[in-house]
Amino acid sequence: MAVLLLLLFSSLALSLPNLSSSKIYTSLSKGSSLTIQDVLISSPNPTFSAGFLNVGGNAYSFAIWFTEPLNGNFTTVWMANRDQPVNGKHTKFSLQNSGNLLLTDAGQINIWTSNTKSNSSVQLEFYENGNLVLSTSEGENLWQSFDFPTNTLLPDQLFTRNTILVSSRSKTNHSSGFYKLYFDGDGILRLRYEGPEITSVYWPDTWITTANAGRTYSNGSKIAVLDSSGYFQSSDLLQFYTSDYGFGPQRRLVLDYDGNLRVYSLDKQSGSWQVTWQHSSEPCRIHGICGANSLCINDPDVGRRCTCLPGYKMKNQTDWSYGCEPDFQLTCNDKSRSGFLQLLHVEFYGFDLSFFPNITFEACKNVCLNYCGCKGIQYRFSLDFGYYNCYPKNILFNGYRSLNFPDPIFIRLPKVNLSTVENPNEDFNLQCNDVITPLDRTYKRKNQDWMKSFIWCTLAVGSFEIICMLAYLLKTRRHSNSGIHCYLQVATGFRKFSYAELKKASRNFSQEIGRGGGGVVYAGILSDNRFAAIKCLKEAIQGEAEFLAEISTICRLNHMNLIEMWGYCAEGKHRLLVYEYMENGNLAISLYCNKLNWRKRFEIALGTARGLAYLHEECLEWVLHCDVKPQNILLDSNYQPKVADFSLSKLLKRSGIESTNFSKIRGTRGYMAPEWIFNLPITSKVDVYSYGIVVLQMITGWGSFGNHANDNSIVMEPRGLVTWVKENIKGPDIGRISRIKGIVDPSMNGDFDMRRMEILVEVALKCVEEDKDARPTMRQVVDMLLHQDSDDEFLITKSSLGDKTLLL
Ligand SMILES: *[C@@H]1O[C@H](CO)[C@@H](O)[C@H](O)[C@H]1NC(C)=O
Ligand SMILES: *[C@@H]1O[C@H](CO)[C@@H](O)[C@H](O)[C@H]1NC(C)=O
Ligand SMILES: *[C@@H]1O[C@H](CO)[C@@H](O)[C@H](O)[C@H]1NC(C)=O
Ligand SMILES: *[C@@H]1O[C@H](CO)[C@@H](O)[C@H](O)[C@H]1NC(C)=O
Ligand SMILES: *[C@@H]1O[C@H](CO)[C@@H](O)[C@H](O)[C@H]1NC(C)=O
Ligand SMILES: *[C@@H]1O[C@H](CO)[C@@H](O)[C@H](O)[C@H]1NC(C)=O
Ligand SMILES: *[C@@H]1O[C@H](CO)[C@@H](O)[C@H](O)[C@H]1NC(C)=O
Ligand SMILES: *[C@@H]1O[C@H](CO)[C@@H](O)[C@H](O)[C@H]1NC(C)=O
Ligand SMILES: *[C@@H]1O[C@H](CO)[C@@H](O)[C@H](O)[C@H]1NC(C)=O
Ligand SMILES: *[C@@H]1O[C@H](CO)[C@@H](O)[C@H](O)[C@H]1NC(C)=O
Repeated sequence: MAVLLLLLFSSLALSLPNLSSSKIYTSLSKGSSLTIQDVLISSPNPTFSAGFLNVGGNAYSFAIWFTEPLNGNFTTVWMANRDQPVNGKHTKFSLQNSGNLLLTDAGQINIWTSNTKSNSSVQLEFYENGNLVLSTSEGENLWQSFDFPTNTLLPDQLFTRNTILVSSRSKTNHSSGFYKLYFDGDGILRLRYEGPEITSVYWPDTWITTANAGRTYSNGSKIAVLDSSGYFQSSDLLQFYTSDYGFGPQRRLVLDYDGNLRVYSLDKQSGSWQVTWQHSSEPCRIHGICGANSLCINDPDVGRRCTCLPGYKMKNQTDWSYGCEPDFQLTCNDKSRSGFLQLLHVEFYGFDLSFFPNITFEACKNVCLNYCGCKGIQYRFSLDFGYYNCYPKNILFNGYRSLNFPDPIFIRLPKVNLSTVENPNEDFNLQCNDVITPLDRTYKRKNQDWMKSFIWCTLAVGSFEIICMLAYLLKTRRHSNSGIHCYLQVATGFRKFSYAELKKASRNFSQEIGRGGGGVVYAGILSDNRFAAIKCLKEAIQGEAEFLAEISTICRLNHMNLIEMWGYCAEGKHRLLVYEYMENGNLAISLYCNKLNWRKRFEIALGTARGLAYLHEECLEWVLHCDVKPQNILLDSNYQPKVADFSLSKLLKRSGIESTNFSKIRGTRGYMAPEWIFNLPITSKVDVYSYGIVVLQMITGWGSFGNHANDNSIVMEPRGLVTWVKENIKGPDIGRISRIKGIVDPSMNGDFDMRRMEILVEVALKCVEEDKDARPTMRQVVDMLLHQDSDDEFLITKSSLGDKTLLL
């Protein structure tokens, strides 16, 4: 016992009161009580302890925690009085003679009670699984802590119709927060945000049916449990395995203060809790996180960020959950005084006043202006019906800004204030003039620069994101640590750079041109006067050996339509990649800026197809790109396309391609093939599909970027484009030419080769077939486009014959 006391003393002293006068109990019987110094344990070497835990200042809560502290902090699993901490002095947790458990503080006020009663002898016992149980000598179970969880479920603790998990208020404040996990009336396990003003369910996603979310109210029971092997099962058929599935590690399922439901497993080696499952990897999809009238932005480097909408100001300077409030006066009776501000790539989930299908943008604006409570509108193209729908909003809540949202939102502001709002889309603004002019401006840190950089990253400079290749590369790691042997070294001048050299080339890393999960990209001029893009990978991403193994694979990919890597640097903790600089930015910007004539477009389509065909078939290993989109097609000074950013790619053995399962959806909404959605085998045809969408965008000029200066150019979801194109060109051969003319980007002013255009349309539509087997391979695409090329002269003469359908 002495040894035990010593052990407890040394491990608990940090946040428990002075323990030298404490007692250790293994159970409580009627009439006895615990004071602030006392601890209840289950066994001589207990996993859990129960007692009073300091929650700040002189405030204590009666709690259960993991006995072993991590970094001096205790991990709590349960609290009796999380919302009403007690004073440190004269506080007691007692088992009354009536059989009731009672927590009283100094003023003899009853803080918490178990509301139990029994005439027979009663014991409070603590079990090794963390359950605190009050039972009679006859074995009747009167009360147990497992029936009243706070924010944590332990293995084998049943979650039932009567239990809810409530998140903590913040990382340091244990009192009840805004997020709840509960069984809904229909038997589905849901997560709900219950904020000061607004309540909304955010898991499973409410826009998909519960059946599509893989849930169903199978039978009358509402029950869920995480077992000790890390398998979670619920009566609504939700189930998952933790990433470290198997018996052994201690685990806990926690509804975290940020609204994410996570399983943590204790990693004994590092002495820390590791997340081994979480319900969402997109923190901005969790509702209420930034309050009303604000935007949530997910920065790969910093994590989640909140910002007020233009014209709004933060309500409570220290707490985002209160959101933002208007910093303007809206005069409702005078419609002419309010206007709309367009915000790109923003979605506000829910709180629609109404829904108006197939109406014009003008009419949609009028609907909003006529209703005083209307705060803004979402005007969105419907894929299913092929027209625009209008959603006036009475609350701007769950605002999320992401390039994955093609649609803009229009917020209502007084006209006097509209003019004073400075560049609401600054971060997302694409300036056509100086898209990329090397080294013309120096990097200066502003509050929101990270945002701009984030966008630049996606927009301007593609990069080889190499982390994802690790799985494959670890297998092929056969290169020595000392350097790497690239057989293209001589041909391409591939070499190792010193850190000092790159620092100088990039002027002390002063001009940032991109930023992504893997690191920051800077512009630079090498000693031989070549413009280069220099990517600094995040520190500690990987060891030198892995890094070099990856480089040696990347440098073997060599094709004129793939971005070229010139070298690398691995010095100390620095990991840098050097690759060619693309003067003309990417296809998305060029389309948006109307820089592309017909010839350029055709060449980009062909070059991109060649690059992808090389990746799929010609190079040493199979490479799926998995994220083909205009932003990842860079253009050189001659507008030759170079495919970039293999961030989501995976190198696969040629033979294994058909049988390989991808565990997670990759790619960008709108460009993703149906296989991702329907969980079918992923093959090179997913890239063919995305390629088809890109080509359709080039033909029609429908970029994913709306011109915010012009209300009429509402952006269209890429997949909607397929439907639209098919609708518009279907019909008899007679008049086909004029129908095709009807879909072509008006900014080409009709200046294009009709027969090639026909082929391009044909090829693109084949590429976007729902059935992957009906799609051509990239090699076949190249052939179809090239075949046309070789007959160029023939075609020019023939095309003068007039409208004639061309068969492939
Ligand atoms: C703990 O209590 C003992 C006696 O009750 C006292 O002598 C000692 O100074 C206290 N230690 C601290 C750190 O308060
Ligand atoms: C305990 O947790 C707090 C808050 O999360 C943290 O700041 C601190 O570094 C941790 N460790 C110690 C020894 O307090
Ligand atoms: C407990 O004892 C009291 C008085 O002796 C009696 O009135 C009460 O009914 C008993 N309750 C139970 C549950 O036996
Ligand atoms: C914790 O949050 C609650 C609810 O917002 C608040 O009343 C309380 O003062 C907070 N406690 C601390 C220590 O900040
Ligand atoms: C409902 O399903 C659960 C788990 O699938 C099962 O354990 C339970 O017995 C079922 N209940 C009824 C009433 O069928
Ligand atoms: C909106 O305009 C009014 C009147 O000019 C002004 O008082 C207010 O500060 C403005 N609000 C913002 C956010 O600019
Ligand atoms: C802001 O929120 C904090 C924490 O919830 C609270 O303590 C504080 O009083 C609030 N401030 C204002 C001005 O409402
Ligand atoms: C949408 O509205 C337009 C103009 O009112 C009309 O011509 C068209 O038929 C409508 N589309 C559908 C699918 O109802
Ligand atoms: C880079 O920084 C060093 C000092 O860290 C300074 O001496 C040098 O002038 C800087 N170079 C440029 C181009 O700013
Ligand atoms: C792919 O995964 C699914 C479900 O996880 C599985 O049923 C199927 O057998 C897997 N296919 C291959 C080829 O491994």
